[in-house]
Amino acid sequence: MSKKVELLDAKIAEAKLGGGQKRIDSQHNKGKLTARERVDLLLDPNSFEEIGMLVTHRSHDFGLDKEVYLGDGVVTGYGTINGRPVYVFSQDFTVFGGSLSETHAEKICKIMDLAMRNGVPVIGLNDSGGARIQEGVVSLAGYADIFYRNVVASGVVPQISAIMGPCAGGAVYSPAITDFICMVEKTSYMFVTGPNVVKTVTHEDVTAEELGGANTHASKSGVTHFAFANEVACLEGIKRMLSYMPQNCEEIAPSYAYEMGEELRPKLANIIPDNPNQPYDMREVIEELVDAGSFMEVQKDYAENIVVGFGHLAGRSIGIVANQPASLAGVLDINASKKAARFVRFCDSFNVPLLVLEDVPGFLPGTDQEWNAIITNGAKLLYAFSEATVPRITVITRKAYGGAYDVMNSKHIGADMNYAWPTAEIAVMGPKGATEIIFKHEIETADNREARLQVKVDEYTEKFANPYKAAARGFVDEVIKPEETRLKLIRSFKMLENKAVSLPRKKHGNIPL
Ligand code: HXC
Repeated sequence: MSKKVELLDAKIAEAKLGGGQKRIDSQHNKGKLTARERVDLLLDPNSFEEIGMLVTHRSHDFGLDKEVYLGDGVVTGYGTINGRPVYVFSQDFTVFGGSLSETHAEKICKIMDLAMRNGVPVIGLNDSGGARIQEGVVSLAGYADIFYRNVVASGVVPQISAIMGPCAGGAVYSPAITDFICMVEKTSYMFVTGPNVVKTVTHEDVTAEELGGANTHASKSGVTHFAFANEVACLEGIKRMLSYMPQNCEEIAPSYAYEMGEELRPKLANIIPDNPNQPYDMREVIEELVDAGSFMEVQKDYAENIVVGFGHLAGRSIGIVANQPASLAGVLDINASKKAARFVRFCDSFNVPLLVLEDVPGFLPGTDQEWNAIITNGAKLLYAFSEATVPRITVITRKAYGGAYDVMNSKHIGADMNYAWPTAEIAVMGPKGATEIIFKHEIETADNREARLQVKVDEYTEKFANPYKAAARGFVDEVIKPEETRLKLIRSFKMLENKAVSLPRKKHGNIPL
């Protein structure tokens, strides 16, 4: 008996070494944490239960039968984060560069199936050279098995991907389908074709970092939702992110005990500049409205003209979508629409109520926007808000002009409550543009055109650049003082907490992709 137990102990010790101590110590791992160290840092202490530790590959070609590593390059299992269950896989770069074999894929699929059956989030820690080249099509099949499960699980359980090393070729499509991607600066990269292929095909000289590093994807492509300075910060970020989400689509996110106190926020009374063309930072408004320090911004360096992220309001999780007047005057463009639409859909999938802060002068004009389909892309945001059945509240802080008024969670597309500050301007277009069109003839024939234009602009501003026409119609439920906003939001989200709405039965809608 003891010999058999000794054999088991030896196998466990061997599995824990992945590709071997030499490979961990050598430049193979490039000073990165090992797959197991990452799991240990991510999960609550001693909570990890491993599944498939003794799995080996089944390949014989190219001498693979002489190189067999227990676990086959991926650590899989389950554990808890802040006491809540999660499934996790962590690729081990010390085993064939973390490449994905048939059995490596089977291990990942097994935990994904368990996660879906049990309604538990899946976290993937990616660090892989892609399909295991020696295995050919079976490894491609393994990727497809994972992609398929990513899609089936989408909207059922939260899926989070951390990129902690290479993630190249078709392998990128698994993280791309998951809800959130986190990258580590300087040590991770994602691309469909690497710098060498780029050089051959387009003659561009580009480094892996420039092509697909964390900062590139955080600011240029928007592929990653977060860029963290190091692996530890990345794993901490994942833990924090999970605190805003439920375990699955049937549940609501955890809430925290909150004692009502002084909920007035005097700073908000003076936050809107007197000049309507002067910017202010909408993040300051958000910070005043949510529980102190609870705002976690998503995609912060991409499409900065819209701000999205999670926060807590009186201990309850909410998703925030806010125009940012400090960037491009808060205009809606293609990237902002896509960014916000995807966030709205995540929140709606997982029962996270939505708060919209609106200060939008309209959609961005220009050939670049039109030729790249602002029509289709702007429609994504309209569609995402319209189909969302979670509690939805809008606060119009200043401008709500044109189609953007409709799109930004108006009552007409299903918002539950719409508040406006006294500084709100709700109209088809801004005073100057509107006046130049409707009083064109009168201005052109005036002796003093400038003076006439100003008179008309003032007239229009007086009539339309306020919230009272909309309030008279009930399109705005209440005009509120900015400093009272937090209190109003706490009360109205509480009022909406049992909201139950269902859309007509359908297979699925056809969002304009
Ligand atoms: C088998 C692989 C491998 C792979 C790396 N290794 N990638 N083994 N299949 N895909 C092995 C190496 O042979 C090496 O083994 C060890 O992992 C470490 O790799 P190095 O090259 O020494 O490390 P590094 O210099 O850090 O470079 C990492 C790398 C490079 C950039 C990832 O290894 C690389 O370019 N690999 C190939 C990437 C690729 O083209 N993959 C296929 C993509 S297509 P030894 O024994 O020397 O330690 C794809 C299709 C997915 O994935 C399809 C889905 C639809």
